[in-house]
Amino acid sequence: MKKLVNDKFISISNLIFSYKKNNLFNNFNLSLDNNMFTSIIGENGSGKTTLTKLICGMITPNFGNVFIENRDVSKMNLSEVGNIIGYLFQNPEKQIFGESVIDELSFAMKFNGISIDIINGKVEHILEKFDLEEIKDQKCHLLSHGEKQRVALSTIFLKNPKYLILDEPTTGLDVLRKEMLYKLLNNIKNDGVGILMISHDLEFVDKLSDRIIMLENGRVIKDEYCS
Ligand SMILES: Nc1ncnc2c1ncn2[C@@H]1O[C@H](COP(=O)(O)OP(=O)(O)OP(=O)(O)O)[C@@H](O)[C@H]1O
Ligand SMILES: [Mg+2]
Repeated sequence: MKKLVNDKFISISNLIFSYKKNNLFNNFNLSLDNNMFTSIIGENGSGKTTLTKLICGMITPNFGNVFIENRDVSKMNLSEVGNIIGYLFQNPEKQIFGESVIDELSFAMKFNGISIDIINGKVEHILEKFDLEEIKDQKCHLLSHGEKQRVALSTIFLKNPKYLILDEPTTGLDVLRKEMLYKLLNNIKNDGVGILMISHDLEFVDKLSDRIIMLENGRVIKDEYCS
């Protein structure tokens, strides 16, 4: 009997996707493991962001399937996917809602009815892990781009995701902030979280990746494992 799904963490099978009449992916297949750091590179408009949105179910294929841990994403809701895969948008402002950093971190847990003691303990741990202790009482809208990015990442990690997708995370970061992001992503990787990063920054990609995939016009034109 034909095997419909495989046991990779993420599996994309016979996917077709168009924005209106503009066909972007035509019978696209790809599997991703969650025990490695994978980067997606490629020219502007090659389909990198669209691919990651398809993986998370933010947009739906015209044909074909995306599976996360053998579950069909089209049969999951966005919060079910969000409990497994964290997604950091290119613009972190899109995903910050709290007034202060501490509000932002507490908000999601309060919303889910978690007790205040558990919230405080978890927030302390996350503030330390993401180097946010000194700015915990600051207003989110006054933070720098790099700080907003760390706040958005810290909120994602309240849910303990197994996998993290980042869209161009080095854009707008100076050398120092980029080095901080490098250390943070390295720690996340060493904690056993799989990562898929879209980036144009080839030096950053080379420093972190176990696998590098190059897209061109919705096709994989290179797929290399790094030693
Ligand atoms: N919402 C949309 N509606 C219509 N076309 C879109 C939409 N989003 C993206 N596209 C088109 O789909 C193609 C792939 O876009 P996508 O954003 O996935 O590329 P990308 O590789 O992430 O590019 P970049 O490096 O510039 O971020 C492009 O031709 C783009 O213009
Ligand atoms: Mg993009």
